[in-house]
Amino acid sequence: MNRGERGSGAAGPSELDRSGAAIGPQATISSKVSGAKLFRRGKVRDVYEAGHGNLVMVASDRLSAFDVVLPTPIPQKGRVLTQLSNFWFERTRSIVPNHVVETRLDDFPEPFRSTPSLEGRAVLVKQCDRVDIECVARGYVSGSAWAEYAKSGTIAGERMPRGMRESERLGDPIFTPATKAMTGHDENISRAQLAAMVGSDLAKKLEDVTIALYRSAHAYALGRGLILADTKFELGFHSGVLTLIDEVLTPDSSRYWDAVRYRPGSTPPSFDKQYVRDFLTASGWNREPPAPTLPAEVVEGTSQRYLECYERIVGRPLA
Ligand SMILES: Nc1ncnc2c1ncn2[C@@H]1O[C@H](COP(=O)(O)OP(=O)(O)O)[C@@H](O)[C@H]1O
Ligand SMILES: [Mg+2]
Repeated sequence: MNRGERGSGAAGPSELDRSGAAIGPQATISSKVSGAKLFRRGKVRDVYEAGHGNLVMVASDRLSAFDVVLPTPIPQKGRVLTQLSNFWFERTRSIVPNHVVETRLDDFPEPFRSTPSLEGRAVLVKQCDRVDIECVARGYVSGSAWAEYAKSGTIAGERMPRGMRESERLGDPIFTPATKAMTGHDENISRAQLAAMVGSDLAKKLEDVTIALYRSAHAYALGRGLILADTKFELGFHSGVLTLIDEVLTPDSSRYWDAVRYRPGSTPPSFDKQYVRDFLTASGWNREPPAPTLPAEVVEGTSQRYLECYERIVGRPLA
C-alpha cells in the first residue's frame, strides 16, 4: 500500500488548532461534541465513547498526504468518507459482519443526536477489539508493491511473474498485510510473518475475507467505470465474531483509477489526491510537518474529486 497515504501517525491537537485561519465555512477540521468523551483522535476521524460498548466515529475534513495531516481541510470530504463507507458496509454484509449500529443521527444516543454538525459525517458502531493489522488486497502492481517488485521481483516477499509493468493487473488478487503501528509508518509483512504474529487460523481468515471483499468490490466498481487497484481493510472482534471495522473502500483507504485513463506501464492519476500531491511536490515541501496550506483551487478540485468518486460508485450525488 502507499504508505505515504495510509500510515497511522496520529495528528496532535496543536497541529489541528494551528490551522484555525484556514477553516472554510463548511469544513470541519476537528469535531466538537460537548458532553461526550473522546476515545481517540486519529488522522482523519474523531472517535467518541457512546455507551453500551458503542463508539461514534466522526469523519472530519482533514486530509493527510505523505503521512502528514495538512493544515487545510477539504469541504465535504468527511461526509463522502462516511457515506461511501456506509454504502459499502451495506453491500458487503453477506461477506463479513461489520461494526455499523446506526447511520442516522436521529437514531444516535445523546449528546450526539443533538449535535447537528455531525450530520452525514458520523456513524454509531460497535467497539471492537481491533486486530492490529492492515489487511491489504491488491489486484494491480502499484505503489509500494511496484517499488518492491521493480527492485527485487517480489511483492510482500513472494516471487512474482517476470516482466510485469507498473499498474499491470495481477492474475489473481493478492493479500499483502502490514502492521498497524500506533505511530509512524506501517510496515509490510509477509504472510508467514502474519501467521507467526496472529496464528495461522486467524491469518487465513483475514486473507480469505480480504480477498473476497476485494473481488466483490472490484467487480462492482468496474461496472461503474472505476478500477479498484488496491484497498485496505481493518478487522476486529466483537463477542468473538470477526467484524469489519473502520472505513471501507473509500478514496482514503483505496486506490481507485478511472478505467478509461488506465494504461499499464504508467501511473494512472489517483482519483482523489492528485491535485494535492502535485501541488505539494511542486511547492518543494520536504514532507516533514508542518505542511503548507493549500490554495483555494486545490481545495476545490480535491473536494470535487471526492464528491465525484462518491457519485460514480453510488450512482447518485451525495445528499
Ligand atoms: N469498531 C471499531 N472499534 C474499535 N476501533 C475502531 C473501530 N473502527 C475504527 N476503529 C479505529 O478508530 C480509528 C479511526 O480513526 P482514523 O482517523 O482512521 O485513525 P488512523 O490515524 O489510525 O488511521 C482507527 O484507529 C481505527 O483502527
Ligand atoms: Mg484510518
